[in-house]
Amino acid sequence: IASSTRPPVIWLHFQECTGCTESMLRAEHPALDKLILEIISLDYHETLFAGAGHQAEAARKASMAANKGKYVLVVEGAIPMKDGGIYCKVGGHTALDLVKECAADAAAVIAIGSCAAWGGMPSSAPNPTGAVGVDEIIKDKPVVNIPGCPPSPYNFLSTVVHYLTFGKLPELDGKGRPKFAYGRIIHENCERRPHFDAGRFAQEFGDEGHRLGYCLYKLGCKGPETFANCPSILFNDIGSGSWPVGTGHPCIGCSEKGIGFTKPIHSLA
Ligand code: SF4
Ligand code: SF4
Ligand code: F3S
Repeated sequence: IASSTRPPVIWLHFQECTGCTESMLRAEHPALDKLILEIISLDYHETLFAGAGHQAEAARKASMAANKGKYVLVVEGAIPMKDGGIYCKVGGHTALDLVKECAADAAAVIAIGSCAAWGGMPSSAPNPTGAVGVDEIIKDKPVVNIPGCPPSPYNFLSTVVHYLTFGKLPELDGKGRPKFAYGRIIHENCERRPHFDAGRFAQEFGDEGHRLGYCLYKLGCKGPETFANCPSILFNDIGSGSWPVGTGHPCIGCSEKGIGFTKPIHSLA
């Protein structure tokens, strides 16, 4: 997929922790250096940029002007709507204005992470800044949502590679998520599922059932209602990493609107 005309990418950061970029930095297929030096042209990214201040903003505007209708816009972080959006500004402009400006001439818009996909952590009750996801603002073109806190970098990279290879976005579900990554609930592919089916549960952290790798449902696992491929793709490199439930922590549904950071733990009875 490497080509002489690398597709330009503008990557914005708003209300977020940069964990999604950190997740991306750990990808190995392709590694970030290959991605940004051979596959795409990363024309604006506040974390990875060598430039700063006016120089960085000028690079963003120059890329957008030179690549109208051709660049991919990636958004990391939620957008605060309350009080005219004053709670997040970059270069003197609100996140609200910036996302509208940058999306206007984008060929595709990708919201990486739960913050950008549906508000995520910044939108936790009482949501003091009125944080929302990108698709509540950009309505005139599809927004691909790659939720997760952070998501697997491969769900993002696979979406980008699909777009570069086929010239179109992958098939999306009703929430704008690529079906290849968010088509199944976690509970379907969890390695602890045989324990669930057999009625073997950890009752509290550190008890014998927990140490034996029993199902974490009674510790609050949201795997039965969360759509994501965490147990099959894992984190920290494909095939050799782990995932929350694999390390003994229940899934908190970080990728799922209305569950992650929102829904109380179910009754442990
Ligand atoms: Fe950080 Fe999570 Fe938001 Fe990504 S989705 S920027 S990891 S808080
Ligand atoms: Fe399902 Fe969670 Fe139990 Fe895994 S640990 S089987 S996802 S309830
Ligand atoms: Fe998040 Fe659950 Fe996956 S907490 S990282 S959706 S296992």
